[in-house]
Amino acid sequence: MTYENDARVISDDVFDLINQFFDEERSGRNIESRVNFFDTYKDYFVLTDDGSYSINSKEINHKVETLHTSTGAISESFEKFIKPMKFDYSKDIAILDICAGIGYNTSAAIADFMKNSSDSNLTIDMVEISKATLACGLLVPSPIREHDITRKAIEDELIRQDYATLTLEKCEIPENIDINVFIEDARQTVQKLDDNTYDAIFLDPFSQNMAPELFSLEFFKEFRRIIKDDGIVATYTSSAPVRAGFIEAGFYIGLGPIFGRKQGGTLASPNPLMLDYALPKNDEIRIALSDVGIVFRDPELNDNSDTILERRTEERHAARHNTKISSAVKTPIFLATEMDDEKLKRRVERNLAKMNIPSTTSDEAKHIVVCENSYTEKQDEKNNSTNRILEMEKRLKEVKSGNYVAT
Ligand SMILES: C[S@@+](CC[C@H](N)C(=O)[O-])C[C@H]1O[C@@H](n2cnc3c(N)ncnc32)[C@H](O)[C@@H]1O
Repeated sequence: MTYENDARVISDDVFDLINQFFDEERSGRNIESRVNFFDTYKDYFVLTDDGSYSINSKEINHKVETLHTSTGAISESFEKFIKPMKFDYSKDIAILDICAGIGYNTSAAIADFMKNSSDSNLTIDMVEISKATLACGLLVPSPIREHDITRKAIEDELIRQDYATLTLEKCEIPENIDINVFIEDARQTVQKLDDNTYDAIFLDPFSQNMAPELFSLEFFKEFRRIIKDDGIVATYTSSAPVRAGFIEAGFYIGLGPIFGRKQGGTLASPNPLMLDYALPKNDEIRIALSDVGIVFRDPELNDNSDTILERRTEERHAARHNTKISSAVKTPIFLATEMDDEKLKRRVERNLAKMNIPSTTSDEAKHIVVCENSYTEKQDEKNNSTNRILEMEKRLKEVKSGNYVAT
């Protein structure tokens, strides 16, 4: 089975329905307006709290995800992907929208650009593996006016690729906006893109267990190559391997907005000054010191998700008690703390002993996490999550290898 058939896209029933609808459009049997489609099949779509529609994913391992948060699909685009950006609209802006889906993130970017720019240009490169998912963007009611512009770009490309036939979108794409739609695996697209091109990369796949291939170190290395020095990558996830992957690929990281979830997402930039807020302290410690910080690897950018997940599981296993502290019972977050719970303390200290750390309050323990004493939520060029994570990693290595001598 090719990756494209295997990829995690929208639920099978909507997928089949939409493919069949456009088959009929192509054969000339169905010239009904696409608006009737939505009225007839509304129940297949998911209404979110702000009135915009979403769709469910395919069922994978008995799990279904919705493409957007139930708190509000189009609101999520503005909150998670537009607000954290620091666009200078006096200059031309280029955005890469990875996992473009039904196009809401692109539509939100267009709305923000049209509101704030005067005579600059906007280029958006949308990347989505599934034609049927993009086609959904033509069928749902536009949640904002600017979505009509996105629809026009999607329709043009679906016609070009002989998936749709009728030109029904009446909206003109403004002259200062250029939208390219790539319909393929985003891992193939990024390898074709030029160095130093994007002011922003929106990374919006399904969760890491469904789509680890879109959170790998090698994928992020491509981002590092194609992003501008002041560019920002935004993604909704707070996952440790994702954050660790950005750092290993040469990015600084910071906390992204909290919307429809308990934890903030992740921002990454080559320039630390573009990232205002640090990750929570315990997230930094766990990423730096425990095996949860082992990244997803996809060396040739073509493995399937199961292979990537298995590879990471094996690597975590090999790293535990060897180069990383065991993540069991969140062991590293107890470094340099007094513990009252005797049973938990015994488990934690058993894990620490295997890394040459005698106790949670030993000199070794304090030495490893000392940089957390200068932690502040606001971060800057020197005092930031990335520098602290790298420092703690280095110190753990020293202690494990016996190169640290307590004074
Ligand atoms: C969470 S949804 C994105 C929602 C979207 N940003 C929007 O505004 O509607 C994830 C999307 O990733 C797409 N996808 C899955 N694997 C992909 C791949 N390898 N390359 C590009 N897109 C992929 C799915 O088809 C799905 O539309």
